[in-house]
Amino acid sequence: MMKGKHIILGICGGIAAYKSVYLLRLLVKAGADVQVVITPAGKEFITPVTLSSLSGHPVISEFFTANTGSWNSHVDLGLWADAMVIAPATASTIGKMANGIADNMLVTTYLSAKCPVFLAPAMDLDMMAHPSTSRNLELLRSYGNHIIEPGVGELASHLVGKGRMEEPENIVKAMEAYFASKCDLSGRRVLITAGPTYERIDPVRFIGNYSSGKMGFAIAEECARRGAEVTLVSGPVSLKCSNPHIKRIDVESARQMLSAAGEAFAGSDVAIMCAAVADYYVENQADSKIKRENNEIPQIKLQRNPDIAATLGANNRPGQVLVGFALETDYEAVNAKLKIEKKNLDFIVLNSLRDKDACFGTDTNKVTIISRDGSEKPFGLKPKADVAKDVVDEVVARLQK
Ligand code: PMT
Repeated sequence: MMKGKHIILGICGGIAAYKSVYLLRLLVKAGADVQVVITPAGKEFITPVTLSSLSGHPVISEFFTANTGSWNSHVDLGLWADAMVIAPATASTIGKMANGIADNMLVTTYLSAKCPVFLAPAMDLDMMAHPSTSRNLELLRSYGNHIIEPGVGELASHLVGKGRMEEPENIVKAMEAYFASKCDLSGRRVLITAGPTYERIDPVRFIGNYSSGKMGFAIAEECARRGAEVTLVSGPVSLKCSNPHIKRIDVESARQMLSAAGEAFAGSDVAIMCAAVADYYVENQADSKIKRENNEIPQIKLQRNPDIAATLGANNRPGQVLVGFALETDYEAVNAKLKIEKKNLDFIVLNSLRDKDACFGTDTNKVTIISRDGSEKPFGLKPKADVAKDVVDEVVARLQK
């Protein structure tokens, strides 16, 4: 469950911080990539050297790195994480989180995080029982955070009561249970095409398009995060995959993409065709660089490329879900609906080049999901990672039908 997950481990200043070392070790052993963010008080209880050795990353505590002036981005960190766990969570940090007091890196990162957040409170029994703590924990619960209740036992003050941080094994179990409940693609195989195709003219030139691969890669990451075994067939892009459950096959041309996608399709439950595939290839490719000095203007002779989505659509078996994308500039919905029929798709994701900050190369997209029965589900402009969630939610709904 934790393999490949990006986890922020937040550590506050409390005696239970010694248990965070063990928690960190368990998370790393389970295959998670853990970034520790510690409050200034936390460093009084446990040293960053121990934590960075175990996590393999420098520990983050301050907004700025002394001497270099470089800046730790809480926003990037918040977007990177699949989950954030704060253990121990002290009364002070709980209060700041509940009320948005962003005066340290940990709370700032929490406010930027879009992932599930787990808190394992640890404090003395009277602090725990104080109405202020209860109210702040209730507030955090109402924000959707997961509170891992503290246990009862002997506390640092030698008093006995409720306030002991939950044992690291149980914190990991709570996180695993959460991820298991979100794994609605577990055991499913998903094929995704992404990026552009390049159609070679000569060894230095090609016909291509502006696709960056960002949309397709975001869908691949989302499917993998939800438990799928993903085959990502990608045209030439400069992106990297971070989830180990993504098998990436790099291709250049549409015909290479068809060959790789066709092979993976038979064993797939779902295929999502996000690539911007060139409709034509160059029949008279030159083996050497075409020289400008030649008097004649070279003539490029085009031949129609195979339609990958339509080829898969003609061969799909009952229960397989086939999703297309439509990149349109005019009569968008009409054209997208024609493609559903032509390619035998279950649904199509329409994006229009008329929309600002959508489609090629951007980090955001604005899509409408159109079904075979013609119904349309429009979505607002949002990060491609969130568009990916909407598309995958639609796929899961189809699989569950
Ligand atoms: O990569 P990004 O920069 O993030 O940009 C994302 C995107 C704009 C490329 C993406 O959101 C998108 O719209 N992808 C599909 C682009 C496209 O080629 O649309 P189309 O309307 O021409 O094709 C319709 C469908 O048929 C698509 O699913 C396409 O993958 C598929 N197709 C098209 C031609 C062909 N020869 N074979 C195909 O499989």
